[in-house]
Amino acid sequence: MKKLSPELQRMFEHAKKARENSYSPYSGHKVGASLVTADGEIFSGCNVENASYGATVCAERAAIQNAISQRGKIEIKEILVLTDENPAWPPCGMCRQVISEFVFQTAIVHICNLSGETKTLPFAELLPNAFSFPKDG
Ligand code: THU
Repeated sequence: MKKLSPELQRMFEHAKKARENSYSPYSGHKVGASLVTADGEIFSGCNVENASYGATVCAERAAIQNAISQRGKIEIKEILVLTDENPAWPPCGMCRQVISEFVFQTAIVHICNLSGETKTLPFAELLPNAFSFPKDG
């Protein structure tokens, strides 16, 4: 496994711990995510599946829900998604849209797997020309 920077290692560990709690009896795919806010705080989440399939919540959205539940509006500086897949899974389309609601201008995404594969790219590359809507406050 490649040596990660201490910051990335911290995000990786948080995502790994959350991934262990993954509720994924339908797909069998455990996913963990962590994010760092502009204030330097870290939050994590795991995928929570549902018998209806459609009500499943991905790890990235769970991490965002956790962060906002605890801190209110946040700005995501970095977000990491961790699976045991090869190649590692990037955030799904729905998560990209939800991430875009809270991204810091230059947010970056780390796409990782347990074998140590890590791909880092700007969020803007994952969702160019993102849809947004003017909001109050
Ligand atoms: N999943 C995530 O948690 N994040 C993604 O970005 C892609 C997919 C979850 C949803 C479902 O529980 C499982 O992975 C298989 O799709």
